[in-house]
Amino acid sequence: MRVAIGADEAAFDLKEILKAHLAQKGVEVEDYGAFDKSPVLYPDIAVKVAEAIAAGKHERGILMCGTGLGMAITANKVPGIRAATCHDTYSAERARKSNDAQILTMGARVIGPELAKTIVDAWLKSEFEGGGSTRKVERIAEYEKKLRRSTRSES
Ligand code: RB5
Repeated sequence: MRVAIGADEAAFDLKEILKAHLAQKGVEVEDYGAFDKSPVLYPDIAVKVAEAIAAGKHERGILMCGTGLGMAITANKVPGIRAATCHDTYSAERARKSNDAQILTMGARVIGPELAKTIVDAWLKSEFEGGGSTRKVERIAEYEKKLRRSTRSES
């Protein structure tokens, strides 16, 4: 599995810890920054990772900031992306099984590194379960198309 990872300065240390954790598990990781603790605009990192996933370059992405929220809000603006903020293992598992979320976001100011590793493991090993969830996820894509069209025609 190819995983893209990104963080702002608030989550730089957590990103480095998770990169080492994933490498130890044999997961192929590409780092989209930040590459040090200098302040960055988290939307810039979120869009790079989300666009790479939407283009099929990676199967999954992990984004981190102080809360995980700004990363999720931004990544979800990229068409086709489903990003979920998860700070517990049950949500991480459901984000894959029910929502087919390709991106996991977490907040380095919300949880510690050991919990973050457990959440990443739960999320990586879970797959979309299909069944009744398929129609629901398809519906999200339908609304995305419809809302994009109506926004374009208003401008
Ligand atoms: C710091 O820029 C903080 O706003 C950011 O890390 C994140 O928590 C935003 O959602």
